[in-house]
Amino acid sequence: MSTFSQSPSNDQNSLEARLQIDYLLDLKAIEKDDVQDVISGLNVDGVQSPKSLPARYFYDTKGSQLFEEICQLPEYYPTRTEASILKQYATEIVNQTQAIELIELGSGSSTKTRFLLDAYQSLDTTLYYTPVDVSSSILKASAYNLLADYPRLKIQGKIATYSQALQQLQTSFLGKRTIIFLGSSIGNFEPLECDRFIAQITNSLNPGDYFLLGIDLQKPVTILEAAYNDTQGITAAFNLNMLQHLNERFQGNFNLELFKHQAIYNQTKNQIEMYLISQQTQSVTLESLDLTIKLAQREVILTEISRKFNIEQMQQYLGDRNLNLIQSYTDSQQWFGLLLCQKTNL
Ligand code: AVI
Repeated sequence: MSTFSQSPSNDQNSLEARLQIDYLLDLKAIEKDDVQDVISGLNVDGVQSPKSLPARYFYDTKGSQLFEEICQLPEYYPTRTEASILKQYATEIVNQTQAIELIELGSGSSTKTRFLLDAYQSLDTTLYYTPVDVSSSILKASAYNLLADYPRLKIQGKIATYSQALQQLQTSFLGKRTIIFLGSSIGNFEPLECDRFIAQITNSLNPGDYFLLGIDLQKPVTILEAAYNDTQGITAAFNLNMLQHLNERFQGNFNLELFKHQAIYNQTKNQIEMYLISQQTQSVTLESLDLTIKLAQREVILTEISRKFNIEQMQQYLGDRNLNLIQSYTDSQQWFGLLLCQKTNL
């Protein structure tokens, strides 16, 4: 479904005339997937070990607020490090890409994107910005703020999953395109999901178009574990809130006090793993799913992986998928990388 905002006036430059929002979410399909993932992840039929829950359950209203707080924490370096790299290199990136269409997957409040939008303003063309997010309230609020601040910008937002948005984008090109995926959110995908995602990115670009990817880099374990076990307990609250979200969504009775948060770095897989650890033998019910989950003392539920990368390996991986690294940008400590890739001619 597509909604073209009707401009109350004839003013072609009014905010409404520069905004289009497509609503693509299929709520019935999402509900079905959610239920299926909870049932299989919580191992009710005894097949999967350890128990796990999909990381998307973090992001209800409270979880999204807690994530914003995480991004400000002294220990959580990725957000500010990536922002500093973008700030330093935005002009260079924009001069290289010269895009007409800028697509951002998981745009949220589009805060870091402003460095790029500032730089695009110096080009003498209209920029079409397509933020993609599953939260319509955040996407709409940030779209209005951006339109007010960037008078030549046109926004074609998509309230959609990445997959839905990329599928639709494969059939409609406005001109030279750059897709951006920031925050090292790619690290939250399992390797197979990552393969599928990158294939969709490649299919959504014409040869010569660009992909800008933020990746968190491998570094000493102490720094990594501190970033996900902060001293103020915000990440713990974020992790535990997933159980509260499940309680509300499925009439559950998880007692948050009977679980502890822990994040560990798995050095074999180069990934942070976030767990909720059951503090005693317990049984939990999700009434609307007619599910009872049994947990042993110290049994864990895996709620998130956050993979940490190496620039050369990522360059090879992307190159094998027709995305040629043009330039990598990093900070002075080499904690975070921003990779600018171009789709090859095949
Ligand atoms: C969204 N994502 C990139 C964050 C990360 O670092 O993997 C999510 C997060 N989980 C705990 N802290 C931050």
